[in-house]
Amino acid sequence: MGRLDGKVALISGAARGQGAEEARLFAEEGAKVILGDIEHEEGQRVAQEVGGIYVPLNVAKEADWIAAVAVAEEKFGALHILVNNAAILRRAPIEDCTLEEYEQVIAVNQTGVFLGIKSAVRLMKRTGGSIVNISSTAGIRGPANNVAYVASKFAIRGMTKVAANEFAKYGIRVNSVHPGLIETPMIDPFFDDEAIRTFAARQLINRLGTSREVAEMVLFLASDASSYSTGAEFICDGGVTTGNRP
Ligand SMILES: NC(=O)c1ccc[n+]([C@@H]2O[C@H](COP(=O)([O-])OP(=O)(O)OC[C@H]3O[C@@H](n4cnc5c(N)ncnc54)[C@H](O)[C@@H]3O)[C@@H](O)[C@H]2O)c1
Repeated sequence: MGRLDGKVALISGAARGQGAEEARLFAEEGAKVILGDIEHEEGQRVAQEVGGIYVPLNVAKEADWIAAVAVAEEKFGALHILVNNAAILRRAPIEDCTLEEYEQVIAVNQTGVFLGIKSAVRLMKRTGGSIVNISSTAGIRGPANNVAYVASKFAIRGMTKVAANEFAKYGIRVNSVHPGLIETPMIDPFFDDEAIRTFAARQLINRLGTSREVAEMVLFLASDASSYSTGAEFICDGGVTTGNRP
C-alpha cells in the first residue's frame, strides 16, 4: 500500500530540485502526478521518469493554472493534492533592490501561490484534500539582503492560514513548509563552498539538507497521515531557526 494510493497531485516547479524529488516520492507512494514548470525539457524528462504528466505552467499566469487544473479534471476527474513549490531567489540589500526585481519575485513566489490555491480549490473542494505551500526559514525570520524573497515567503505563511480557515469546510487542509538551506540548483549562484560551511556551522545539524528530506515532510502533509494538521508551519532546517549559535 502506497501512502498516496488513489490520489492525484499537482506540483509546481517540478522540473528540478525539491519539486522533482516530491514528484518522484509521490509517484513511488502511488499518486498520479502532474508536474508543472517553465523548464519544459527538464520537466518532461522528470514526468517521463515518474510516469507522470507534464504541463507548461508559469505560476504567475492565471490561465496556465486554469489549464493545469483542467488536465487533472480531464485525465483523472479529481485533484486531491496541490504543492505550491515553484519559486525564484534574488538577493540584494533593500537600497539596491530595483522595483522590477522586487515585483518579479513577488509575482512568482507570492502571486503564484495565490493563483495556485484559487485555481486548484475549484476542483479540490469536490473531494477534499491537502495543499502544501513551500515557504522557507525566510518566512520565519528576515535575514538581510533578501527583502523580496522574505516578503514573499512571509506572505505564503499568512496565505496558508487564510486558506486553511476558508477551506476547512470542504475537508481541505492547508499547511506551510519552511526548509532551511537545501542542496538544489537554486542556491548555486549565491552560496559557494565556503559560504555553505559558514552557514551550516550555525546549525544544530551541520550540513545542507537534501531535497529528499524536504519531500518526506511534504509527503507527510500531503497524505492522510497528517489528518489533524491544518493552518500550521512545518520547519525542516537542521535547527537553524532554533539554534543559539552566533
Ligand atoms: N534550496 C533552498 O535552500 C531553499 C530553502 C528554503 C526554501 N526553498 C524553497 O523550496 C522551493 C523549491 O526550491 P528549489 O530549492 O527546489 O529550487 P530550484 O531552483 O532548484 O527549483 C525551482 C523550480 O521552480 C521552477 N520555476 C521558477 N519560476 C517558475 C515559474 N514562474 N513558474 C513555474 N515554475 C517556475 C524552476 O524552473 C525550477 O524547476 C521554493 O519554493 C524555494 O523558495 C528552497
